[in-house]
Formats: sequence, C-alpha cells, structure tokens
Amino acid sequence: SVLEMEVEQIKKGDFDHFMKKEIHEQPDSLTTSMRGRLKDGVVGLGGLKDHMRTIRRSRRIIFIGCGTSYHAALAARPIMEELTDIPVTMEIASDMLDRKALIFKEDTAVFVSQSGETADTLLALEYALQHGALCVGVTNTVGSTLARKTHCGVHINAGCEIGVASTKAYTCQIVVMVMMALAIGSDKMSTLAQREAIIAGLTKLPEKVHDVLKLDGEMKALAQSLIEEQSLLMFGRGNNYATALEGALKVKEVALMHSEGMLAGEMKHGPLALVDEYLPIIVIATHDDSFSKQQSVIQQLHARKGRLIVMCSEGDASLVCPDGRSRVIEVPRVVDCLQPIINIIPMQLLAYHLTVLRGYNVDQPRNLAKSVTTQ
Ligand code: G6P
Repeated sequence: SVLEMEVEQIKKGDFDHFMKKEIHEQPDSLTTSMRGRLKDGVVGLGGLKDHMRTIRRSRRIIFIGCGTSYHAALAARPIMEELTDIPVTMEIASDMLDRKALIFKEDTAVFVSQSGETADTLLALEYALQHGALCVGVTNTVGSTLARKTHCGVHINAGCEIGVASTKAYTCQIVVMVMMALAIGSDKMSTLAQREAIIAGLTKLPEKVHDVLKLDGEMKALAQSLIEEQSLLMFGRGNNYATALEGALKVKEVALMHSEGMLAGEMKHGPLALVDEYLPIIVIATHDDSFSKQQSVIQQLHARKGRLIVMCSEGDASLVCPDGRSRVIEVPRVVDCLQPIINIIPMQLLAYHLTVLRGYNVDQPRNLAKSVTTQ
C-alpha cells in the first residue's frame, strides 16, 4: 500500500536501499555490539558468565549456522582456537542433521543466527540439546526461539536488519565471537599481550570501518567494469577464507552473478584450470601471517595471465603487484583476527553496486527470504 511504501522510505532515511543503509551503519552497529562489554581491558559477557567453567572444560567447540551466519563463525574460528586452546569444528546446520553428526555432552555447541528463527539451525539445536551438549546462542533477535531454547548466549545488538542479504549482522557476529574467544581465553597468562592488542583493536575498529567505507566510489567503478561478467572468483585463506566465501555469497545472492569463494591453498588442486585472461579473480592478500603465501598465489596466477583484483593492506600495492598490471583495493590494516571485518566491506559495496548497475532488486533478491523458517 501507499502507506507501507512511505513508512519504508522513512526507515531508509537518506539511502536508496536498506542494504546500502545497513552497510553504512556498520561503524555504529559495531559500537553498539561492543557497548558495555569492554571495560578496563576486560571483556564482560553477562550471558555467558554462569557457564564459563563448563565452556572452558569442553573438549570441543562446534560452530553451527547457515548462510552468512556460518561464514561469520568461520571467520572467528582461528582466533577462537588460538585463544582457548579448544579445537573448533564447523557445521552447516542442515548437513549436521543429514549426517546425524556425532555430538557429545563434553561439547559446547555455538549456534549463530541473525534471526534466531532459521529452521535448520533450530532443528540442529534440538538435536544438540538431546545429546547433552552445552548450547550457546549468538543472535540478533531478543526473544527469538534460538535465544529462548539455548542454555546461554550473547545478543549481537546490531539493530534491525531488513535487507535480505546480511551485512551489518555479519560484522557484529564476528565481533561478538572474537569477544567470546577473549572471554573464554581470559584465564591464560600466555596470551595476555595478544588479548590486550585485540581489545585495543576493537576499540579502534568502528573508526577503521568508517575509513574503509570511503572505498564506496572505487567499488562502484570496479562494479562498472564487472557488470557484463558471467562469473567471479574470490581466493582467501586463514582468517580471510571466510571473507572469500562471504564476498562470493553476497555477489551471487544479490547481483545474481555466479561467484565462488575458494581456499587459496586448494587453488592448485583444480581451480587453477579455470584461470585465463578473462575470468576476474579477487585475491585477498592483506598483511597477516598468510601474506607471503598469498604473494606466491598472486605470482602463480600472474604466470597464467590471470585477470586479478588484489585486496591488500594500505601501502602494500607495490608488494602485491610490482608491475602495476592488476587492479588493487587498499584497505586499512587492523589486528589479524579483526581484518575479516574490514575486508568484507569493499565486497559488500561491490555486490551492492553490481546489483544496482545490473538492475536487480537489491533488498529482496529473487527466490530468497530473510529468514528461512521451513526445512
Ligand atoms: C537466509 C538469509 C541469509 C542468512 C541465512 C541464515 O538464507 O537470506 O542472509 O544468512 O538465512 O539466517 P540466520 O537468521 O539464521 O542468520
């Protein structure tokens, strides 16, 4: 109705679409996510306090989710393992159910869902509860089924997300899971300096996100150059494997363009056969402990005349692309475990602009729903 349309316009404010509004809200949503939880260099997560002993004693942490929420968990996995010394495994909710995956009462199962109502995630929760695991929820929706049925949890407080493609919830989910890793690992003296550096990084993060959003115009120009393409690959590894998967998901779900995120370490085992001078390939090569490996990936792709777009840290352009042949996206550098939050933002902007330029519906992509409440 006309009234509904007007209400929608008011909620969008100065933005043409919810997706754009939500991308640009991220400095604020991240601030809200962290509010009251980082005091005097200590992470306090009230929702987990009473279960911290059980979590620390668990044999394994299992991250469970679907879609973007699964990717957020994947992005947080390396730091969760590093700070807690507990092995972390990943489960797509539907696959966990299909396999009737093994799960024990010594496990901590962390369910990640923006809506808290995704059917597969809730069924996986029922299954984990039946098997006696400690069940933790990470959700954006207070009072959701996930929030009610888990033993404990953390709200991400990203604010209402309307665009079907998740953007601000993704970055807030990662921040919350990094804070969880800090809280669970806070009894270890050996990582004190690292934890302090991460907390300092969290404090500066909203400002860095604000800076990376300035790439909007550059991403629009990149989108313009890719508008006619059939396919787009993204290579990442380590902390940024999730960035490749999530960047590709954004492009396929809203821009309706085939896109695959791949683990760069697997490139030689198949994907390399696709490389030619036409297929655009985004390589994520920001400066962390996988940087030198990504540099050699770039060399190998160059040797096959690949058409590269390299994402690197500010000041690294000449290191990732000495001959100036590839397109470079320079992003601010932050501590390694927070870098995926920075790196996804140009990909969100790229997906957004590609969609608008290709003339598709960015807030409600065809065939997709914000919350999939049926199996
Ligand atoms: C749908 C949405 C995605 C979302 C996924 C999981 O597929 O379109 O954006 O990531 O569900 O949703 P959840 O609410 O569980 O995070």
